[in-house]
Order: sequence, then C-alpha cells, then structure tokens
Amino acid sequence: MDVTDDLLGLDFFADASLTANPYTYYDAIRQSPVWHEPNHGVVLVSGYDEVVGVCRDDRDTFSACNVVSGPFPGLPVQPEGDDISDLIERYRGTLPISDYFATFDPPKHTQHRALLARLLTPRRLQENEDFLWKLADRTIDGFVDSGRCELIASFGTTFTMLAIADLLGVPESDHGRFQRAPELVGALAGTSGNHIGVSEDWFVDYIQDRRRSPRDDVLTKLAEARFPDGTVPDAIDVARVAVFLFAAGQGTTVDLLSSALLVLADNGELQEQLRNDRALINPFIEEVLRLESPVKTNFRLARRSTTVGEVEVPAGANVMVMVGSANRDPRHFEAPGELRLDRPNAMDHLAFGRGIHACPGAALARAEARVSLERILDRMADIGIDEDEHGPPEMRSYQWEPTFLLRRLQALHLTFSPIEATRK
Ligand code: HEM
Repeated sequence: MDVTDDLLGLDFFADASLTANPYTYYDAIRQSPVWHEPNHGVVLVSGYDEVVGVCRDDRDTFSACNVVSGPFPGLPVQPEGDDISDLIERYRGTLPISDYFATFDPPKHTQHRALLARLLTPRRLQENEDFLWKLADRTIDGFVDSGRCELIASFGTTFTMLAIADLLGVPESDHGRFQRAPELVGALAGTSGNHIGVSEDWFVDYIQDRRRSPRDDVLTKLAEARFPDGTVPDAIDVARVAVFLFAAGQGTTVDLLSSALLVLADNGELQEQLRNDRALINPFIEEVLRLESPVKTNFRLARRSTTVGEVEVPAGANVMVMVGSANRDPRHFEAPGELRLDRPNAMDHLAFGRGIHACPGAALARAEARVSLERILDRMADIGIDEDEHGPPEMRSYQWEPTFLLRRLQALHLTFSPIEATRK
C-alpha cells in the first residue's frame, strides 16, 4: 500500500487529522477527480473542471436540498430509478435548514434570492463600506494598546456580525443584541435542526414595523421587496432570507480574516510588502481565498442519473462539491500550493461557488477583508504569531474546528506593536 492508498482509506467526514491539513488528502483524491468514496457512498468531486460542471448544472440535474448536510441524514427512503424529483419534493422538508433559500431549487430559489437584490446594489455596498471603516477602527480600539490579541474574539466575530447587520439596515441602537449573539450563528456547520439563531423574530418585527410605517431606510426597502412575479412575500420569508446572511456570511468571513492574518503574521516580508504597497491587498485576499477556502465543500443531490467527468452518478447520489480541492487543482492553477500575488488566473478560484447559488455576499466579504487588512496594517506594526500560545516557528500548533465543511481556525493569538495616532 502506498501513501495515496493510505490517504484514500481515510474517512474525510470523521478523520480529525484532515481538519488540520486536508490538502495532501485533496491531492490524493484528485487523481480521480470524481470518486465514489467508500465510507458513506458519497461522490467526491475534487477537480476544478468537474466542480464547475456540477455547479453549472444546478437547474435540471442537481438539487441543493442537501447543501450543508449531504448524507447526514440524507433522504429518509432509498431512492430508486433515474429521476427522483418527486421524492425530493416529498422529503426535502425533512432535511436540515430546509427553510432557508440556500437549499431551494428553481423556481422557488430564484424568487427568494431576488428579495436580496436591493441590498446588494453598488450604492448600498458603498454606504456599507463607509460603516466598515468606522467599525474596524472602533473594534481595533478595543485591544490595540495591549500589543496582543486573539484575533477571532477581539476583532473577527464582532466586525463580521455588525457588517451584515449594517448591510441589512439594522439601526445602530440595536447592534448590541447582534453583538451578543455570535454563538448563535455558524449554522452552516450545524446539520441538525432548522434554526439558525440570530432571531427570525427580530426581523419579522422589523419587516412588520416598516410595512406599517415605512421610513427612509434599508429595512423599509427589504420590507417592500417583492417576488419577481410581483407578489408580496410573507414577513417570515423575508426574515429568513435576512437571517440566513448571518449564518452563511459571518463565520466564513472570520475564517478568511484569520487565515489571512495567519499567513501575514508568519511571513514578515510579505507583511511589509503589503504594508508598503496596499494595491497588493486585493490579490493577497484572492490567493488566501483560493489556498484556504473557508467553505471547503458543500453538497448537491443528483436529481437524475448523469455523468460527471467520465463517471456515472446515479439519481439520489450525494455529490460533494469540493471547492477547496478544486482551488488547488494543478490542471488549472500553476504551482497551486504557492501564494503568488501576480497569479494571472487568480480570480478563477471557486471559493464563492459558481452558478445560481454562487455567494451573493462575495463583494461584502471582500470589502470586509480589505478594510480590515488596511486598518490592521495601519495600526499594528510587526504583527507576529504569539509563541506562548502557538509555539515557535518550527513547531507551530493551531486548533482547527472539527468540521469537514469549513476551514475554521478556533483561535489566532497575535503580538504586535501599536502604531500611534493613526486613527482615521
Ligand atoms: C469569505 C467569506 C465567504 C465565503 C468563502 C463564502 C462562500 C460561499 C459559497 C461557496 C457559497 C455557495 C454554496 C453553494 O454552492 O451551494 C455561498 C453561498 C451563500 N453565501 Fe457566501 N461566502 C462568504 C461570505 C458571505 C457573506 C458575507 C454573505 C452575506 C452577507 C454570504 C451569503 C451567502 C448566501 C446567502 C449564500 C446562499 C446563496 C444561494 O444559495 O443562492 N456569504 N457562500
């Protein structure tokens, strides 16, 4: 048995060693970019072209009903035949997070996703960015003088939570209760139950209030949003779309920030390069998204029997769309394990997915990362890994969240020198 055989024997869904480093495993399975894995009968799609192929086939062939849960628990009955569309409609309500539009298929998916349209205009995103600059400074104020921090608790969690609250137009006077609720999110990782946490009731109240008495604010725009056919959604439908943004967009953006800072804190030369040439921040963010994709993977259910690549996939199969692996596919990215700020096809990465479910929050996530890095570099010099917590350079140790869905660092302790008087 060679090393590859050993790796192929691992259970991707349960093996703790793969959360610390999934990449050698990805390299092994990518030898067969579409592979029926033996432990749970899931079809692992790990090659770049094959992942794009599945994502582009979300209308007719694949359903997103199992997007975060895959085979856990899967449909309650054994699928039979070459088209299980009826079975999916009968049982999709039994699957985790089935109330949220990420699990919907067209035409219902199209209708519900459209409720977001007025939140994601260039103008709204610019207003939101103005808030992000202030928020970044306010959050950094909370710890900068001490010269050390645990980035996720001190900065990431609050910053990413309030970034979404502001996008949705939640009044600043209500931000406190969102700030106190970070433990409620992260539902992408939770595969049981249907409740995300940031209270749907808060949003039902906002929507009902703005429907009764419209104001000149973003929540009113949300309350007035219509389905594309002109019908008025129930307040709970709008609330669920709003609340799902926290589940999908808060932890994932923390993951991007912590991966970015881990790289910079361990590479003083790169840190200085970015500090001195801020135009490099954007390509750096894209490379971190590619190399350490916060969403490692998600799922689709084969509605019809089909082929992916050359491999037959029967109707009813759980197909795992491994964007984290696709982003390191050497058939698409030269020297895929290297961080290259001048990579010509860097933007091809699939960290935000592709097709009808592609991440609607990508522009916000990128803005959050850019603003955070700008202000962190402005206000913190000589950022390094805290060796008391993570060990010396040759023996670093980090705790990763034991989830196969997300690339999630549990804590990142940093040391730095505060930079005086640069508050903007
Ligand atoms: C670095 C941060 C982020 C990453 C890596 C990320 C990644 C992804 C990926 C890969 C998908 C596609 C899932 C699929 O194909 O089924 C997705 C969907 C989604 N993301 Fe993000 N996301 C991030 C941030 C955000 C933010 C900030 C928001 C909201 C403000 C957000 C909201 C959503 C929503 C609502 C969906 C479901 C879309 C649909 O099914 O139509 N995400 N995200």
